[in-house]
Amino acid sequence: MRPSLRIGLALTASLSQAQDLTQYVLTDTGDTGGGNTFPGVSLPLGMVKLGPDLYTGSDSYSGYQADGDFIGFSMLHESGTGGAPKYGVVSQMPVLGDIENPLSDQSINRSVADETRLGYYKSSLVNGITVELGATGRAGMFQYVFPEDSGASNVIVDVSHVLPSYRGQGLGQSYLGGNISVTTLETGVRYVGSGSYDNGWNRAPEWTVYFCGNFEQNATFRTFLGADAENDTLVDYSDATSQASEVRLGAVFTFNTTEVTSRVGVSFISADQACHNVDTEIPAGTSRETLEDDVKTAWTDQVLSKVTTTDTSNTTKLQLLYSSLYHLLLIPTNKTGENPLWTSSEPYYDDIFTFWDLFRSGTPLLHILQPVAYEEFIRSLIDIWRFEGFMPDARSSFFNGATQGGSNVDNVLADAYVKGVRGAVNWTDGFSAMLTDAETVPPNNNDSRDTSSSTKEGRGALPDWIDLGYITTKYGRSVSRAIEYAGNDFGLYQVASGLGLDSEAEKYLNRSRQWRNQWNPDLTALNFTGFLGPRDEDGAWVDQDPLSCGGCYWGDDYYEALPMEYSFNAHHDMATLIDYSGGSDAFIARLEAMFEGGLSDSNSQFNYTLFNPGNEPSFTTPYLYNFVGRQDLSVKHSRFVADSYYSPTPAGLPGNSDAGAMESWLLWNIIGLYPITGQTTFLIGSPWFADLTIDLGGGKSLVVTATGGDDEGAIYVQSLQVNGAAWDKAWVAWEDVFADGGTLDFVLGSEPADWATGEAPPSPATKTS
Ligand SMILES: *[C@@H]1O[C@H](CO)[C@@H](O)[C@H](O)[C@H]1NC(C)=O
Ligand SMILES: *[C@@H]1O[C@H](CO)[C@@H](O)[C@H](O)[C@H]1NC(C)=O
Ligand SMILES: *[C@@H]1O[C@H](CO)[C@@H](O)[C@H](O)[C@H]1NC(C)=O
Ligand SMILES: *[C@@H]1O[C@H](CO)[C@@H](O)[C@H](O)[C@H]1NC(C)=O
Ligand SMILES: *[C@@H]1O[C@H](CO)[C@@H](O)[C@H](O)[C@H]1NC(C)=O
Ligand SMILES: *[C@@H]1O[C@H](CO)[C@@H](O)[C@H](O)[C@H]1NC(C)=O
Ligand SMILES: *[C@@H]1O[C@H](CO)[C@@H](O)[C@H](O)[C@H]1NC(C)=O
Ligand SMILES: *[C@@H]1O[C@H](CO)[C@@H](O)[C@H](O)[C@H]1NC(C)=O
Ligand SMILES: *[C@@H]1O[C@H](CO)[C@@H](O)[C@H](O)[C@H]1NC(C)=O
Ligand SMILES: *[C@@H]1O[C@H](CO)[C@@H](O)[C@H](O)[C@H]1NC(C)=O
Ligand SMILES: *[C@@H]1O[C@H](CO)[C@@H](O)[C@H](O)[C@H]1NC(C)=O
Ligand SMILES: *[C@@H]1O[C@H](CO)[C@@H](O)[C@H](O)[C@H]1NC(C)=O
Repeated sequence: MRPSLRIGLALTASLSQAQDLTQYVLTDTGDTGGGNTFPGVSLPLGMVKLGPDLYTGSDSYSGYQADGDFIGFSMLHESGTGGAPKYGVVSQMPVLGDIENPLSDQSINRSVADETRLGYYKSSLVNGITVELGATGRAGMFQYVFPEDSGASNVIVDVSHVLPSYRGQGLGQSYLGGNISVTTLETGVRYVGSGSYDNGWNRAPEWTVYFCGNFEQNATFRTFLGADAENDTLVDYSDATSQASEVRLGAVFTFNTTEVTSRVGVSFISADQACHNVDTEIPAGTSRETLEDDVKTAWTDQVLSKVTTTDTSNTTKLQLLYSSLYHLLLIPTNKTGENPLWTSSEPYYDDIFTFWDLFRSGTPLLHILQPVAYEEFIRSLIDIWRFEGFMPDARSSFFNGATQGGSNVDNVLADAYVKGVRGAVNWTDGFSAMLTDAETVPPNNNDSRDTSSSTKEGRGALPDWIDLGYITTKYGRSVSRAIEYAGNDFGLYQVASGLGLDSEAEKYLNRSRQWRNQWNPDLTALNFTGFLGPRDEDGAWVDQDPLSCGGCYWGDDYYEALPMEYSFNAHHDMATLIDYSGGSDAFIARLEAMFEGGLSDSNSQFNYTLFNPGNEPSFTTPYLYNFVGRQDLSVKHSRFVADSYYSPTPAGLPGNSDAGAMESWLLWNIIGLYPITGQTTFLIGSPWFADLTIDLGGGKSLVVTATGGDDEGAIYVQSLQVNGAAWDKAWVAWEDVFADGGTLDFVLGSEPADWATGEAPPSPATKTS
């Protein structure tokens, strides 16, 4: 290497290190307009998410709403979820003046919009109180400023506070009991105790969180008990230092100062551990500014610096990149050392919302960006199977549920396996856990939304799948589950093959083809014939409009997406799917129909008729042109979706974030690749930046460059070099650029070019046995 070049590289590297990447993280991206992201304070994968709880009369999934009244500021939240709120517990609420009844409505509006940035959150109440928040992994800080001369400064600690649900589906959380004890310190006070709750999004049974709160200033206090959950009648409001109650419970702290600081630790193990968490993570005297700096440093070192570019000309693109990385890594939560259910040397991760949402683009991205966390995550999934019998599709507050389609955790394990994740993962157990999903019917949890089989875990419709080779309308979501079960079985095939379990491999490869038994060659829509369709309990085809999913809900034949959308989802058996769809040209025409009208108006207000950018069954569809020689159309449609439906603004997501699923879709679009989960294949799109370096860990990196691209439509691939050699395939494999790192050097232009003339992407289940 010539010395001048080496100096040039060193300079480039130090420039990108010197950039403050946190400036591009807009923490409010996606927090309104149904995105439901969490705008409060959290570390990457942090257990504590400290933020506001707003009341508007509709569900506040992350606690936050742009309007409404504050009902508290609490320690535990989810980001980017739907269904029904979960958590919003361990709260404080500042109140001015004498409080006659802490159970009466204390809610209050904002005076100005909340202020949020990485590591910091501030709310201003119309009565003049301001609340500033900071957090670590297992503790948080509340800093209050009360107005002068406005009467007493109080903080209510309401142990019975939860985020309520107004959906009327019986998913609302309940407070079930708890206790609180207050001790006066030399300076300040400490309160410790616990609260138990149930239900919420995943219909969980009782779980308990312990808290250890400190106020740095001297306070007088009164504890209180309520009459029942519904009314605000006080049973006791006294100076008792300890109270326990199953209805309403809390304490009011009153200060003579206008500035009040509180440090609170939480734990799922014990009050002692909650105190340990706050004492070690936020020792007395810690400044809020220090916490903010620490959160920024953690995000920069652990997450943001993993993806860098020297192409900083378009700030919007940088904001999309770094805000998406941020929201992707807010959830799940690393609760290692905080699992109350069993003792094990394995890591423990919780708050999985859900693999149905995340297996396509979320978990494959977690793998490349956070390989250490990813391996821990896989180990924790297997450990859940060891102790509870089934891996989760979704899980929160230490409880599995709910499973929307197949046992898609199998796809996640298969993806990890084929991409070489080994380390401390016990793959013998991993495959056994997958076998449970494939062979054991989970006990029915009698979910009122679909009483036909379990929604908690595993594959409730297995009896049909095993006995008949398809799923009848005896089961809810019969068709969408069938296509997903096929993908799950392909996952078993992949791991069995790798482990040398030849007969299991053959069995599950065969079963992965059973989606074909759910393909009704006579269903017709838009002049296309042949779609996935329902079969009745006698096996006879049921007529079905491929452009309607009926109720599209738990008890219906298709869950949350159209038959036509699901009819693109045999990603392990694409050659068969293309054949069933009428061949390559007809397949292209079908894809084009999905995006009908989408390009007729290049402003982002357009809504597709069929393609749904905001729901996961459509996620891979824009890239499927790569299987039929039209990589240019994958670029055209996927870039259009990204440009039209994503912006770094509060309403800037195409739908619910789904725990980062949307953000992960965008990030792959930015990189210029799209994963086929459970296989080593990545379909090629077109990258956004002139250069992008992804730190893969272990000293390896993927460097993606693009010359000739711009933000005015020069997005089409003209040519590509992979690791310095000319490339004519519309896909790369894990081994090509990820296993040991690699380079992708694109030339882009404003007109499509016929560069991808090589071998089509693999269709591994199509080989006839
Ligand atoms: C709350 O305050 C905002 C301004 O910050 C105002 O637009 C809104 O109308 C207020 N809501 C109520 C119920 O007063
Ligand atoms: C408070 O409740 C927790 C959880 O039920 C229990 O472990 C603890 O002993 C209780 N503490 C007191 C002082 O009652
Ligand atoms: C807090 O109260 C203690 C007595 O309990 C007193 O010694 C101390 O000076 C007070 N501290 C402040 C800052 O008022
Ligand atoms: C605040 O002042 C009042 C009145 O002087 C006094 O009764 C109360 O104990 C003080 N509170 C604290 C926490 O020092
Ligand atoms: C509140 O609850 C208590 C205890 O259950 C009951 O006696 C009282 O009548 C209730 N008050 C109202 C207004 O519902
Ligand atoms: C998860 O949490 C445990 C316990 O705090 C910690 O040892 C581990 O490093 C964490 N994992 C990651 C990826 O940060
Ligand atoms: C994997 O777990 C099984 C028990 O289920 C155990 O027999 C085996 O030794 C473990 N393998 C490794 C490599 O630890
Ligand atoms: C579901 O209903 C069945 C039949 O009524 C019952 O045996 C079973 O215990 C129920 N399971 C749960 C988890 O409620
Ligand atoms: C494959 O599955 C079909 C049913 O779909 C069955 O008839 C056949 O025997 C199976 N073959 C193997 C090798 O398991
Ligand atoms: C279906 O084909 C007919 C005959 O070619 C044509 O007239 C009609 O417009 C087509 N319909 C659609 C929805 O493409
Ligand atoms: C697109 O859909 C959104 C949300 O359903 C709606 O608010 C908007 O008005 C629609 N735009 C058009 C152009 O139909
Ligand atoms: C910057 O990128 C965004 C997102 O791709 C795009 O919409 C915008 O037009 C670009 N701005 C400029 C000045 O090119």
